[in-house]
Order: sequence, then structure tokens, then C-alpha cells
Amino acid sequence: MGSNDKAVLNYGEGQAVELPIMSGSMGPDVVDIRQLYAKTGMFTYDPGFMSTAACRSAITYIDGDTGVLLYRGYPIEQLAQQCDFLEVAYLILNGELPSAEQKAKFVYTVTRHTMVHDQLTRFYSGFRRDSHPMAVMVGVVGALSAFYHDSLDINDPHHREVAAFRLVAKMPTIVAMAYKYSIGLPFMYPKNDLSYTANFMRMMFGVPTEDYVVNDVLVRALDRILILHADHEQNASTSTVRLAGSSGANPFACIASGIACLWGPAHGGANEAALNMLGDIQKQGGVAKIGEFIRQVKDKNSTVKLMGFGHRVYKNYDPRAKLMRETTHEVLHELGLQDDPLFKLAIALEKIALEDDYFVSRKLYPNVDFYSGIVQRALGIPTAMFTCIFALARTVGWIAQWNEMISDSEQKIGRPRQLFTGATRRDVVPIAQR
Ligand code: CMC
Repeated sequence: MGSNDKAVLNYGEGQAVELPIMSGSMGPDVVDIRQLYAKTGMFTYDPGFMSTAACRSAITYIDGDTGVLLYRGYPIEQLAQQCDFLEVAYLILNGELPSAEQKAKFVYTVTRHTMVHDQLTRFYSGFRRDSHPMAVMVGVVGALSAFYHDSLDINDPHHREVAAFRLVAKMPTIVAMAYKYSIGLPFMYPKNDLSYTANFMRMMFGVPTEDYVVNDVLVRALDRILILHADHEQNASTSTVRLAGSSGANPFACIASGIACLWGPAHGGANEAALNMLGDIQKQGGVAKIGEFIRQVKDKNSTVKLMGFGHRVYKNYDPRAKLMRETTHEVLHELGLQDDPLFKLAIALEKIALEDDYFVSRKLYPNVDFYSGIVQRALGIPTAMFTCIFALARTVGWIAQWNEMISDSEQKIGRPRQLFTGATRRDVVPIAQR
């Protein structure tokens, strides 16, 4: 490789090309390969984007080797301990923490967008009651694009801001409605004198016939879940939102595509999968069965994974997992569930895995989802709703990243290349002769 600011690629018979090296404010430098094809006639090959930066971004920074996560420069630990979700949402969207006055205005505006168009409520009845709520979310959030025509000029910053407010404000209402629909209870209207998260909990768990009593410890716990999941730089669902948005697509449709991607068990579906896994081990005998389970995970011929463990970027403890473990203690204590068997099982499983060479040598540590399922279950959130809560939290990250992409003069329609391995040119033989 070449000097400080250029990399040299030698190829073919004595040919070479110089490629510029770009530096960000932190993190690895990148080799700028935009001219590679024009200069060499070659593409690069990188399934899963293991070594490819697809954009510039100033929102979230992760140092996976040291377990650091910063939103706009602020460590996740400080944000989780000192701010509430809407303050963090303001930060992610605008780049700076709000003053008291800015926060009050932001909260007011979000609060005034919490209701959904009344006709949207009819969408739910088109779904089977036993649909997975993420299937409902994909449909309903996509449908928002048919309702809010006045914020659809993506080149107008004001329209983009209105779309952002609508999404952040309406997502709790939409998630809670998906839950109420699944259990056959009436939808609850938002109540604007409550905080963002308390309002969401009331829409989830309240009923029209009774007053809902807010528990501050539980609200704080859910608020922390939202903060910890608010953004995570160029993960699969965020990249999906960016890719969908790169064609100029409608913002609500782009967020629906992010929700579809998030649903997968390797991404947002992991906390559901982790809790199901703990439940299965518990049914088979609990702590005594951990050894057998770990043996299956390590068996090359089995497809069993330790869900809630491992991360593409974190090769050290996920900082969100530490905060989530702390929250799990607080919530279980508040609810008198200190002896929760699944929590005990999770702690024992974590301890054994962290000492096992298979996990140590592959740098597999618990991720945020290892504990978030236990907290959500304790809060009364059914397992199938976990990924919807993740979607609710991540919406602010998606919309901030989408906005950043649209404002970036270097952005182009996303259009990966391929290494073609199919049949070379051949002629169609008439069907009677095949
Ligand atoms: N259990 C057992 N083995 C694992 C696990 C696991 N959870 N994760 C990775 N490995 C092994 C994998 O088999 C491979 O082993 P080998 O080198 O012998 O073939 C090695 O570790 C490297 O794994 P990889 O699949 O190449 O790593 P990746 O970066 O492509 O995958 C991951 C990252 C998160 C998809 C994966 O670790 C995983 O499937 N974890 C379980 C699902 C999970 O908890 N996902 C939540 C991620 S955090 C929330 C979010 O971002 O959505």
C-alpha cells in the first residue's frame, strides 16, 4: 500500500492504480474506490459489506473493539443515565442536545402529532388477529405514505422535518394499536399530558374503563430501551432505509422497508429469539441443561446459535448490554421478581459462555438483546411485540440517517455490482427440441 493519503493497487501484468485514502474524525480510514472501475475495469467483492463504507455519516460512532457507542459524540452511558428518549431523539435528529427551551418546543411538537388519521385505524381490521405484529407494522407504516401527502417533497427540508415529527410521534400509537388489535381490545387514544414513554405504556396497557397508573421505574426502563436502540449507524435496517431512500422513495415507505429488514432474527428479531431460547432451556431443565445447550451451539453440524450473543461490530462487550443488565435488575426488583428464573438462567448462561474458548476466541459477547427480552417480558410486553418496540426506538435513527443521505450532495442511487457466476451467452432451443 502507498503513502499516507494514497493506496496503490497492483494488478494484472505490472499495472497499478493509486486510490485516495480518506479520513473521518474517528475510526478507520477508507480507501476511496469510486474511480476503481473506470480506471481498472474491476469491481470490488464484499458481501455483507464487511469492509465497505457506503456513506459518510456524522450521527453515530461505534468502536467495536473497545465497546464504545457515541450518538453525535456523546457516550451512550451518559445519555442513558442523564437524558430521556425525546432529548436523545432531538440530539440524533439535530446534532446537538437541546436547551430546556428547545426541548420543550420539540416535546410539544411531537406531542401534537401523536394521533393517526382516523381512517388508518381501518387498516388494522384487514389483518388477521393472529398476524405477527411486525407484519402489521410493515403494512400500516407503509400506508402512512398514502395519508400524509403534504410532506412528500423530499427535497424540501421543511417537508422532511414534518415527516420526521410524524414518524417519531405516531410510531408509539401505531405499535400500541397493533398490540390492542392482536388481543381484541379497543385502541387507546394518546394522552398528551403524559411523557412520550408513559403515553406509549398507557396506550399499550391501559383500557378506556379505568385510569392508567404510571409507574416511573417501569417508564424509565422502557425509555432506556428506546434510548439504547435509537440508532446504531449503518446496520442492516438502516442501510435498507438508505437504499430505499436513495431512489427518492417516499419517507414512510422507506421506514416500512427498514421495519421489514429489522424483523429478521439476526437483527431486531434477536431479543424475541433470545427469550424463546431461554424459555426452551428452562423447559428442558434450566441451569443444569446449559452445558448441553452450549455443546449444541458449538457443534459445527448444528444450526443452533446462542441468541443475544455476537455482533458484527462489537468484538468486546456491547455497552448497551451492560446498561440493559442494570435495567433488568431495577425492573425485576421493582416488580418483586428478583428470583425470575429466566434472569437467573441468563446470568448463568452468560457466565459460562464468557469463560468458554469457543466464544472467547470468536470474540462473542452478549449484545443488547440478551437482556432486553427479559426486561420487556417483566414489563408485560408480549414476546411477539419486542421487535415492534425496537422499530419504535429505531425510527428516529432511520429518519435521521435518511435525512442525512438526502442532504448529502455525494449521495447516489444505491446500486451494488456483482460477480456474475451464471451461464454465459447461449441460444434458446425451441421447446419441442429441449
Ligand atoms: N452463537 C454461536 N456462534 C456464533 C454466534 C452465536 N450467537 N454468533 C457468531 N457465531 C460464530 C459463527 O458461527 C462463526 O463461527 P466460525 O468462524 O467457526 O464459522 C463466528 O462466530 C463469526 O460469526 P459470523 O456469523 O461470521 O459473524 P457476523 O458478524 O456475520 O454475525 C451476528 C453477527 C449478530 C449476525 C451473529 O453473531 C448472530 O447471528 N448472533 C445471534 C443473533 C443476535 O443476537 N443478533 C442481535 C445483534 S444485536 C441487535 C441488532 O443489531 O439488531
